[in-house]
Amino acid sequence: MASAAQAVKKGTAEFAKDVLAGLSSSPRYLSSKYFYDEKGDAIFRQIMQLDEYYLTRCELEIFQRQTGELNLLLSEAGSQPFQLIELGAGDGSKTKVLIRELLRKGASFKYVPIDISAHAVEELMSSLRTEFPSLDAEGIADDYFEVLNLFDHHSRKVVLFMGANIGNYRYDEASRFIKKIADALNPGDILVIGFDLKKDPARILAAYNDKKGVTRNFNLNLLERINRELGGNFDPGKFIHYPLYDPVSGEARSYIISACDQQVRIDALDMSFQFSQWEPIHTEVSKKYSLQEVRQLAEENGFSVKKNLFDEKENFVDSVWTK
Ligand SMILES: C[S@@+](CC[C@H](N)C(=O)[O-])C[C@H]1O[C@@H](n2cnc3c(N)ncnc32)[C@H](O)[C@@H]1O
Repeated sequence: MASAAQAVKKGTAEFAKDVLAGLSSSPRYLSSKYFYDEKGDAIFRQIMQLDEYYLTRCELEIFQRQTGELNLLLSEAGSQPFQLIELGAGDGSKTKVLIRELLRKGASFKYVPIDISAHAVEELMSSLRTEFPSLDAEGIADDYFEVLNLFDHHSRKVVLFMGANIGNYRYDEASRFIKKIADALNPGDILVIGFDLKKDPARILAAYNDKKGVTRNFNLNLLERINRELGGNFDPGKFIHYPLYDPVSGEARSYIISACDQQVRIDALDMSFQFSQWEPIHTEVSKKYSLQEVRQLAEENGFSVKKNLFDEKENFVDSVWTK
């Protein structure tokens, strides 16, 4: 097992490699998975409280109002002990509603939250020890793409992939990822996925462009993270946060745009990068789904949709699939 220091070193080397690939490509990009360092986690918690960011409230409403239904769906798959594996767990605030109900019902399970942010996993594990002292839990700080095939193939599994995290992948990438999840599961195992649904484009765009500028800070934190961890000298004041929504693909996309001609040095890469005025760096996709696409994604990867759980206004769906 790698020590925390080795894990940080491996994480920094991968970050450097991905930044080099993204800034050397045309058009330029940076992966959204790097939003979440300690500062990014804190900004994301602010985002979840924003008036404009409806997603978290809708999914929390589903978990609070339909915990019984969700619990029933999970238990229908059998009474044996299971692993409750969460991909990209974050602060686990919605999952805790389900955990409380499962413990109350005496379910036998182990909770395995996985997150690329070591800081998020530490905080979550510490809060679980306080809130649920009897809970069997093991946090994993890693990229979920890397750990899926390490799961014990014999145990029953319920996988949670919430917060519309699936929307951070274009449809084809999402489908390949779902296939990988399917390969790690046995028949009868369950996958619960949160999808943000297509709706008024103005409402979607506002969720990524709030009045207080919190989503702006979140996006530009990527440049600050490069400064902190890779010795970059980005001046975030010379870059603009620019989100847009394409109603055809359902993709909300965020960019960072260079406001002037400028050169940026990154010590860890021993390189400088030239940015032209108005040149974009693509940073995030947040794809919005139709229910037809949700079903297609399930069925083309060997799942069947057991139930769709909606918030009252049907802005969001937690879709419960079985393999
Ligand atoms: C949109 S947040 C959702 C958090 C939580 N699931 C929720 O619903 O509130 C996405 C989370 O996934 C994590 N994440 C993003 N990409 C990841 C990856 N490739 N591997 C593991 N975790 C990842 C982030 O660190 C972040 O905590």
